[in-house]
Amino acid sequence: MNPAIGIALLLTVLQVSRGQKVTSLTACLVDQSLRLDCRHENTTSVPIQHEFSLTREKKKHVLHGTWGVPEYTYRARTNFTSRYNIKVLYLANFTTKDEGTYTCELRVSGQPTQSSHQNVSVLRDKLVKCEGINLLAQNTSWLLLLLLSLSLLQATDFISL
Ligand SMILES: *[C@@H]1O[C@H](CO)[C@@H](O)[C@H](O)[C@H]1NC(C)=O
Ligand SMILES: *[C@@H]1O[C@H](CO)[C@@H](O)[C@H](O)[C@H]1NC(C)=O
Ligand SMILES: *[C@@H]1O[C@H](CO)[C@@H](O)[C@H](O)[C@H]1NC(C)=O
Ligand SMILES: *[C@@H]1O[C@H](CO)[C@@H](O)[C@H](O)[C@H]1NC(C)=O
Ligand SMILES: *[C@@H]1O[C@H](CO)[C@@H](O)[C@H](O)[C@H]1NC(C)=O
Repeated sequence: MNPAIGIALLLTVLQVSRGQKVTSLTACLVDQSLRLDCRHENTTSVPIQHEFSLTREKKKHVLHGTWGVPEYTYRARTNFTSRYNIKVLYLANFTTKDEGTYTCELRVSGQPTQSSHQNVSVLRDKLVKCEGINLLAQNTSWLLLLLLSLSLLQATDFISL
């Protein structure tokens, strides 16, 4: 094979797998709802498929997704929002019955072999409250620093676009 084509192919593959990598999955509690924040890279224009699932006692339950069929009991309890590089799933009325390993998995459309996922283990007693109100109660200079770094991050985001 022509080495140039080889390199181009390799770059394409790298690009694709980069564009759908899950960078982090975190869980927190808002009122009685579990909130899962699935952060991911977004460097491709290819549509990304996603799936949130819960593995409990070795059994996998699909909560929300674009390829697995969500279980009926969960469908009514979840709401899903998606932004540029984060997917957020709420699971209402979270109880100890919903404890287990939560997974966020991403795939590039039409390439089910290329997937990326992150797990988070969720226990009712260990769950932290979602930030927001907490943050305000803290030192203001700390908050300023955070806002500053956020806007910096955003700026670098724009540059990399
Ligand atoms: C949560 O539980 C409350 C009380 O049992 C019920 O009224 C409500 O419909 C539930 N919410 C969802 C989204 O299932
Ligand atoms: C999703 O559920 C959370 C928690 O119940 C709620 O705060 C949020 O407003 C809901 N979002 C939508 C789009 O329904
Ligand atoms: C990636 O970002 C583009 C905007 O640049 C957006 O249209 C697309 O929906 C994003 N992809 C995902 C999976 O969120
Ligand atoms: C995430 O959890 C699933 C289900 O328990 C498991 O199959 C998979 O190997 C885990 N992945 C990682 C990276 O721990
Ligand atoms: C924030 O913390 C700094 C140093 O840790 C302190 O000098 C300052 O007074 C604090 N500000 C507030 C509003 O608590």
